Amino acid sequence: MGVALALQLLLSYLLMLGGHPSSSQRHFVEHVALFIFGDSIFDPGNNNYINTTADFQANFWPYGISYFNPPTRRFSDGRLIPDFIVEYHRLPLIPTYLDPPNTEFVYGANFASGGVGALVESHAGFTLDLKTQLQYFGDLEKHFRQNLGDSKTDQLMSDAVYLFSCGGNDYPSPVGNNDIILYPYTHEQYVGMVIGNWTDVFKGIHEKGGRKIGITNLAPLACWPSVREGRQPGNTCNEELDIISSLHNQELLKKLQELEKQLDGFMYAVFDLNTEVSNQMKNPSKYGFKIGDSACCGSSPFGGIDSCGGKRGIKEFDLFDNINDYFFFDSNHITKVVGRQFAELFWNGGSDVTAPYNLKAVFQGKRSLASLEGSAMRTRSMDA
Ligand SMILES: *[C@@H]1O[C@H](CO)[C@@H](O)[C@H](O)[C@H]1NC(C)=O
Ligand SMILES: *[C@@H]1O[C@H](CO)[C@@H](O)[C@H](O)[C@H]1NC(C)=O
Repeated sequence: MGVALALQLLLSYLLMLGGHPSSSQRHFVEHVALFIFGDSIFDPGNNNYINTTADFQANFWPYGISYFNPPTRRFSDGRLIPDFIVEYHRLPLIPTYLDPPNTEFVYGANFASGGVGALVESHAGFTLDLKTQLQYFGDLEKHFRQNLGDSKTDQLMSDAVYLFSCGGNDYPSPVGNNDIILYPYTHEQYVGMVIGNWTDVFKGIHEKGGRKIGITNLAPLACWPSVREGRQPGNTCNEELDIISSLHNQELLKKLQELEKQLDGFMYAVFDLNTEVSNQMKNPSKYGFKIGDSACCGSSPFGGIDSCGGKRGIKEFDLFDNINDYFFFDSNHITKVVGRQFAELFWNGGSDVTAPYNLKAVFQGKRSLASLEGSAMRTRSMDA
C-alpha cells in the first residue's frame, strides 16, 4: 500500500478516536452505562409498546408540553430525573428499551414502566412488571455476550449503574381511600414482601455482574393530590399510608446495608425522595415554586383527579399556564423543574440527601474513574 493511503487510513483512524467513536467496543470502555428500572418516575415510554390503557400512558398532550415535541411519553411536562442525570454524566438520553427503533444499548437501556410495583399484583396486566424488566435485561446481557465477548460484557456490567424507582404503586391501592387494612398481612409483612421482591430483582442483576445502584426511597404518598382526593373529611392526608411509607423506607435502608455485607463489590446511593418531597410540598417558595399541594393538570379544586390529557375517560380537565410555579404536574407526578432539582441533589447532594454516596461517586466507582479520566484527557487533547 502506498504511503499516502497508509497516512490517510491512519488519519481517519485518529479522527474516529477523537470525534464520534463508531465502534461499540470503545463506548463500553469509556462510558459507564446506565440501566434504569422501575415505575413512572423513570418511564420514558415503554408503556406505549405493551397491552395497557391510556391511564398508564403519557403519549398525548399536554405531557411533555415544556420540552418534548411531539408528546414526551414521560409522566411530566418535560424531562424526568434520569434525563437530567445523563446530562451530568455526559451520556445521551438512555433509550426506551421497547421502542422499536432502539437497537443500540451501548450507553444503557431504560426498562421502567409507569404503574409498576415490586409486587406483581400491583396493576397486574397493565405494566411491565419488575420481573419482566429483569428478563429483558437478561436478554440484553446475552446480546452483549454474543457481540462483545465475556470480558467486555463483564466490565460493562460491573461498571454500569443501575437506577431504581419502586414501591410507589405497591401501597396506595391496597391502603386505598378508605384505610382498608392490608388484609391478611400486617404492615411489617406487607412491606417485607415489597422489599423482598425488589431484592430478588436486584440479586438477579448482581448475578449478571451488576454492582452499583442508585435508588429513590418512597415519597410521602400520604398527601399526594391523588391520594387526598375524595377522602373524608376535607380531602385529608392518609395517615396509614404515611406510617407504611416510613416503614418501607426504614426496611429499604436495612436491606441495602445487609446487601452491602453479602454481595461482593456492592455500592449504592439512596436518594431521600421522602424528605425532599416533604420539604418542597411544605415550603414551595423556598425552592422557587408557588404551589406545593395541587396539581397543574387534572380536575377537582386541587387537581386530585387524574384526568390530565383526558385520562380516566374525563374529557375536560384543567391545565394552568404557569407550570413552573407547580410542584405537581398531574395528580401523581412532579413537574420537570422539580425533576431537575431532584436529579441534581441525587447526583451531587451531601449525605443528608443521598447516602452513603451520591450518584456521582457511584458512577465513578474505582475502575470507571480511571477510564473516564482517560477519555476526558483524550477528548481534550484532540480538541486542542
Ligand atoms: C390486551 O388486554 C385486553 C384487556 O385487558 C385483553 O382483552 C386482550 O386480550 C389483551 N391483548 C393481548 C394481545 O394480550
Ligand atoms: C414476593 O411477592 C409475593 C406476592 O406477589 C409474595 O408471595 C412473596 O413472598 C414475595 N417474595 C419475597 C421474597 O418476599
